[in-house]
Parts: sequence; C-alpha cells; structure tokens
Amino acid sequence: MKPAALVFDAYGTLFDVHAVVARCESFWPGHGTQLSQLWRTKQLEWTWQRSLMRRYVPFSQVTRDALGYACESLGLPCGDAQVEALMQEYLRLAVYPDVPDALVRLQADGRRLAILTNGSSDMIEPLVAHRGLKARFAAVLSVDSLAVYKPAPEVYGLAASRLGLRATEIGFVSSNCWDALGAKSFGFSVWWINRGSAPLDRLGFTPEGTLRGLGDLPEALAA
Ligand code: LAC
Repeated sequence: MKPAALVFDAYGTLFDVHAVVARCESFWPGHGTQLSQLWRTKQLEWTWQRSLMRRYVPFSQVTRDALGYACESLGLPCGDAQVEALMQEYLRLAVYPDVPDALVRLQADGRRLAILTNGSSDMIEPLVAHRGLKARFAAVLSVDSLAVYKPAPEVYGLAASRLGLRATEIGFVSSNCWDALGAKSFGFSVWWINRGSAPLDRLGFTPEGTLRGLGDLPEALAA
C-alpha cells in the first residue's frame, strides 16, 4: 500500500547534528569531530536509558547533560558560555542539502508530511521555523507529551493517532537505523536513509527501502 502520510525523524534525518562541529572547533581546535560524535552518542544512549528507567527529562536537558559529559570525558574545559553557544547551535542546525527539494516534491504528490521526534518542542519548533520548513509539515510531533523516547511503540502510536491513520497507512523515514526498525516493528512502512552505507541493525526487521539520501525518496515511492 502507498503511504497516505510520511512521518520523518528530525535529528540526523532532516537536520545534521554534526553541523555543530565548526562551533566546537572554534572552542577546542582539533577536537570538534570527536566531541560532536561523543555528544550525539551519549545523547542517544541516555534517551534509551531514561526510557527504560522511566526517568524522562526533555531532550533539551538530555542534550545539555550529554554535552557536559562529552567535554569532561575528552578533558575539554567547558563553561556556561560554551554550553549556551552550542545549545543555540541546535536551534539552527543545517538541513541536509537534498532535504528541502525532496520535501517539496513529496508534498506536491499530495501526501501529508509530519515530523516525529525525540526532540522537545523548545528545540524542534525553533529549528523547523529557522530553516523555513514550517509550511512543509501538517504536524510536528514531540515525544514530550508521552514522556518516553523512541523506539518505544507508544511514540509511533502517537503519530498514527494524531494523523488519524492506521499504522499500515504511514510511511516512516529515518536515518537512525534503530528508529527506522522501531517504526517497522510498530507496523509502519519504513524507508531507511543510510547516508553512510552502514550495515542493517540485526533486530529481525527489514525496511521497505534503503536509500542513500532523502532525494531518492520521491522516486522510491513512485516505483
Ligand atoms: C529524533 C532523534 C532520534 O529526531 O534524532 O527523534
């Protein structure tokens, strides 16, 4: 069945979390990439740990905590000014170059588009607005109202209920393999944006399609 709506992950799929590297480099030359990688790794790990522990705090807090940890772990001195500057970077992350045009084409095909993100509203709303993408999306949905993070099934259920569709009518798009397969496990049709040619996580699920970039999605859906 062709999806009636497409639901997108935000960070890593539409927006490049590693766009923070340049600012990191300006504070700690030679450490920007390593810091950005560890920051993202701990950010994600702590969303999963907090969900299992039922100790939810918003993604903005997790992101701030993970930055502090990453700096300490790498021995990089990090004061309030650096933390605030890097948190601000998260409100204006770059979009991947193929994203704006792909969204226009997918919307022109008559599908409703939505975002479903672990990001809290205080992070995702300013970012979508800053990048001029508000008009692309019928809904920008955050896990915040559920106080649990993806890949908990109830998060994907939120998208289905808010869009008024059955799971089988929704196409989910993520570059985060764990998220793509979480959505597949829930019952969505899934397109995995595998920009880095990584192997598929061995969780017993296979996406409908694996693409090198979002720019390939309109053709994949038309096929
Ligand atoms: C998000 C995280 C997974 O946007 O990147 O939900």
